[in-house]
Amino acid sequence: MSAGAETTFDLVILGGGSGGYACALRAAELGLSVAMIEKGKLGGTCLHQGCIPTKALLHAAEVADSARDGAQFGVRTAFESIDMSGVNAYKDAVVSRLHKGLQGLVTSRGIEYVQGQGHLVAKDTVEVAGRRLTGRNIVLATGSYARSLPGLEIGGRIMTSLEALTLDFVPPRVVVLGGGVIGVEFASVFRSFGSEVTIIEALPRLVAAEDEAVSKQLERSFRKRKIALRTGAWFATATQSGDVVTISLDGGEKLEADLLLVAVGRGPVTEGLGYAEAGVTLERGFVPTDERLRTNVDGVYAVGDIVPGLQLAHRGFAQGIFVAEEVAGLAPAVIDETGIPRVTYCDPEIASVGLTEAQAREKYAEVETYEYSLAGNGRSQILRTQGFVKLVRDKEGPVVGVHMIGARMGEQVGEAQLIYNWEALPSDVASLIHAHPTQTEALGEAHLALAGKPLHAHA
Ligand code: NAI
Repeated sequence: MSAGAETTFDLVILGGGSGGYACALRAAELGLSVAMIEKGKLGGTCLHQGCIPTKALLHAAEVADSARDGAQFGVRTAFESIDMSGVNAYKDAVVSRLHKGLQGLVTSRGIEYVQGQGHLVAKDTVEVAGRRLTGRNIVLATGSYARSLPGLEIGGRIMTSLEALTLDFVPPRVVVLGGGVIGVEFASVFRSFGSEVTIIEALPRLVAAEDEAVSKQLERSFRKRKIALRTGAWFATATQSGDVVTISLDGGEKLEADLLLVAVGRGPVTEGLGYAEAGVTLERGFVPTDERLRTNVDGVYAVGDIVPGLQLAHRGFAQGIFVAEEVAGLAPAVIDETGIPRVTYCDPEIASVGLTEAQAREKYAEVETYEYSLAGNGRSQILRTQGFVKLVRDKEGPVVGVHMIGARMGEQVGEAQLIYNWEALPSDVASLIHAHPTQTEALGEAHLALAGKPLHAHA
């Protein structure tokens, strides 16, 4: 293709992360012509700097804990140390294999993959590397970046998750700023790797978007793991001297650390890309869309982290697929944001879908809840984990929220999301048999109890 040449596609997708590439793959499958532009690596944040590498770190953390805790199970093991070069090699190998697989998929589906920084130069045209790619439809999928706070400069021992992913040492003392999803996951990793960890969170509780009971259990478990918690604490300043960071809180209190991890949210990548100039409305940098993911400009869609709402890879996949099917004329069903499952991979793991108890109480006249303790679940006792499955139902109708905390609870979110999205009544689930002994029984037992026939549950 010669420089300056113009080509027209059914879809031109700006960004090759979860939202962008899912859209490209599905559109190609549907016979549409697709160009996808990516300035970094195919797979985006999720594959290279987010979900995948962080979960590899969390798995290494779990292995370290197993080595420490062998005696609990009558196995003589000892934890020696963390070899960060080994951890990073393992993590990078996982990423690299998935990256190769994804590249193969994109190539095999005949997608025009263009490497470079794209720019929206008209409402139907993206310019990249001297080429102009015109689309009958444009999909904006440029993702998000780790935000900091005003006056808090990232550099040296002050890092976001991005820099923390390539650490070649285990810092003895870590302060985590922000007790949201990234904050608690990294706090969990560092603690398992042997660091002393303190979390500073401005809100009164950790993972504040989750049901309050889940936050309480997480805080109990973290305290037991000797992770220090400073909830309701406002960060004021941080200064660096050599390899030491001094963090001041609003009340004047000071904390010292060898690393300050800043996890105060992710902002949309939309600046300087020509969106506003092409007439696309931006709100605080995000791209608002209607429920069919259309921006205010005809023929321009947006998917993934730039669209206000949950910043989750699987939401991006779903939105990408939705737009491809919409453009192909399949009129897909609108995505229910509340039905998107959420998993936080710290130890103990958190998984939820639907409304929290507080949200349900605002929406329904009468709400019923039930909490099934993992103390009554055989498999959870074998794993020596604590936690619960909490159900929230509309008193007159289906289960509208499932909230779980405990080891491996993320693996149960599949069933939980079917229950929510298929609007199951407790009695519907109670009639289904859960294999014994599995942790899924805890979900089954909670529904048995809500249906009025508890089995392994104390009244
Ligand atoms: P977040 O919004 O989940 O949490 C940020 C926390 O920082 C909030 O609790 C906020 O109150 C606190 N905070 C903000 N300013 C503060 C201040 N000045 N002092 C003290 N605390 C302050 O954002 P996070 O954890 O950075 O994650 C970004 C996004 O990435 C989230 O949407 C998250 O869902 C997503 N993500 C999802 C994962 C998963 O699904 N497992 C893993 C990692 C990220």
